[in-house]
Amino acid sequence: MQLSLLENTDFGSCAENRVKELHLLLEHHNQCYYQRDSPEITDAEYDELFRELTSLERQYPGLATADSPTQRVGVALVGRFSSVTHGLPMLSLENAFNDDEIRAKLDVRVKKELGLSDDSAVSYMCEPKMDGLAVELIYEQGTLTVASTRGDGITGEDVTQNIRTLRGLPLRLSGDGVPALLEVRGEVFLSLEAFQKINRDREDNGDPPFANPRNAAAGSLRQLDSRITARRPLSMFCYAPGRVEGFQFSSQDEFLTSAAAWGLPVNPLTRLVNHIDGAVAYYHEMQELRETLPYEIDGTVIKVDSFSLQSELGEKSRSPLWAIACKFPPRQAETLLEDVILSVGRTGVITPVAKLRAVEISGVTVSRATLHNWDELTVKDIRIGDTVVVERAGDVIPAVVRVIAERRNGSERAVPPPLHCPDCGSVVVRIADEVALRCMGISCPPQIRESLRHFASRGAMDIEGLGEKVVEQLLSLGLVRTIADLYALNKADFMRFERMGDKLASNLLTALEGSKKCTLDRFIFALGIRHVGERTAKSLAQAFGSLENLEIATMEELTSVRDIGATVAQSIITFFMNPDNRMVISQMRTLGVLPAAVAKTVGGRLNGKNFVFTGTLTRFSRDYARKLVEDLGGNVVGSVSRKTDYVVSGGDAGGKLIKARDLGVTIFGEEEFLELLKEP
Ligand code: IVH
Repeated sequence: MQLSLLENTDFGSCAENRVKELHLLLEHHNQCYYQRDSPEITDAEYDELFRELTSLERQYPGLATADSPTQRVGVALVGRFSSVTHGLPMLSLENAFNDDEIRAKLDVRVKKELGLSDDSAVSYMCEPKMDGLAVELIYEQGTLTVASTRGDGITGEDVTQNIRTLRGLPLRLSGDGVPALLEVRGEVFLSLEAFQKINRDREDNGDPPFANPRNAAAGSLRQLDSRITARRPLSMFCYAPGRVEGFQFSSQDEFLTSAAAWGLPVNPLTRLVNHIDGAVAYYHEMQELRETLPYEIDGTVIKVDSFSLQSELGEKSRSPLWAIACKFPPRQAETLLEDVILSVGRTGVITPVAKLRAVEISGVTVSRATLHNWDELTVKDIRIGDTVVVERAGDVIPAVVRVIAERRNGSERAVPPPLHCPDCGSVVVRIADEVALRCMGISCPPQIRESLRHFASRGAMDIEGLGEKVVEQLLSLGLVRTIADLYALNKADFMRFERMGDKLASNLLTALEGSKKCTLDRFIFALGIRHVGERTAKSLAQAFGSLENLEIATMEELTSVRDIGATVAQSIITFFMNPDNRMVISQMRTLGVLPAAVAKTVGGRLNGKNFVFTGTLTRFSRDYARKLVEDLGGNVVGSVSRKTDYVVSGGDAGGKLIKARDLGVTIFGEEEFLELLKEP
């Protein structure tokens, strides 16, 4: 997907378009980050897009819809492990990027909410912000019974078997006063040393290395085979309680001390301060210390220490008001830009990539960096031979930040945009309103390679064994040109591969055969229609029920589906209008690829029940509530009437609540609603 950080300076409908575009971008990057563990942009860039959306929504409140990524706690699951609904939602934190923001977004706000004077002092617990992945552990009568990932904040994946392999984590709590129930949250991470070793081993085996320790930790924890997890030395630090029975903590300090006393790993670098000045000083100290730590931290977290003040302050849908994440500025290094390489993606977009003289940034050797698009090259005046500043923000994909123009000696070369595709020689066009250059060749090899890879990938058709290397050989032997050709392959074709055994060939054929009966949403996602990610594919499958219906859907029908705006709808229509695409789909049908049609969820536990949500919801976002209800066959409607079965009311509910009372409709609080969903 196209990444644009350019601010849209026009007003009115321009803002509306940009908001829609930001929804799409953020959703896409959420998916890349949370579900696929393969982010395409840095955290800093993500934060910038997020901030741009927040500020547009503030400026134009009418554009702040319930389905905005600003209202979400995360993204839905891919669904391979069984799922676990968290007893309390796992929230995320608002970010601050400098001292002033720390004071304004935490201390000033806290005092205002609590009605304290400006010169009063609040005690804060300061903690390193571990750069790993959040996990919840449940100890019942002191025994570890369930461990789950954060997932979308409401429901995560059951990774109990894998978590049990963490050596530093007690399977039973010890010491005095162990609570009957203790839900505890923390961050699972890999040490830098372990990360480097894993990558060395992967490279020796010809596997692509992990981009950073966080991805390596996520990849290790989400292994279906826990024996692999056991070989990866994952660690964990606990930092927050969930539900607790049989013990009452009065403060974060007491929680951390008790957790440590019961044998849970707690970061020894936490510090209790009695004034915000102490928290700001801690942020600076940690920034220095960061370079010497054996693991990655990407900031500090500051929390109001007292639990009674925390509950008085409460939380908004995305984050609590009593804590803030103080992010460190990204790490940078200088190096030589040796060349600009062109990379052609699945949709034909040509992206310039910087080839750099290898440089080490925080333990990771960087030799490539993204340049995003040609506008970026022009705006930043980047030339081959330049000394450039490279950044690993959030330590994901490195980016070229700027040129050090003073280092130029006159031998640098500007890079003109290509007129022809570097791979197939087809003409390159720049589509109106887009910054991207696109190769229009329908048989462009990298496009075919990427579409095959995407088609076979986990979230799509999930064809086991059809990875990068197999795709490469299929292409170089000229055995496939389209995704349909995959289904015409036979054993003899595979046996032409280098290093292909009888068993492997049979497995591949079985996997291909098995994928013929995939679900409709996976098939739609696998087609690689621009702007159609997993979530949109699910909505489309639900709404249209079959591929045949989707192929002939009109603009009106498409835009009436939840989450689908004009851009996505147009992209779908354009896709199905293309005769090449229609031909590929019809060939697949002939070859027996018949995605299962879906009926709209009927017969669920909440079948036909109408829900209305009102007031300020603090336990979950409306978007998630809707998903939960719809998954069980219920409907969410906007206004209360005689047909309404349940009203779920958050704080400050107004007219709808009154009307519900008048009509005698059942009214639930947020807790009761969650209980209702949990009932067997
Ligand atoms: S507290 C409601 N403490 O940061 C507060 N989070 O950006 C829950 N994280 O999802 C989080 N170190 O994965 C907390 N010491 C720490 C943390 C920490 C890392 C992560 C956590 C969370 C994310 C929020």
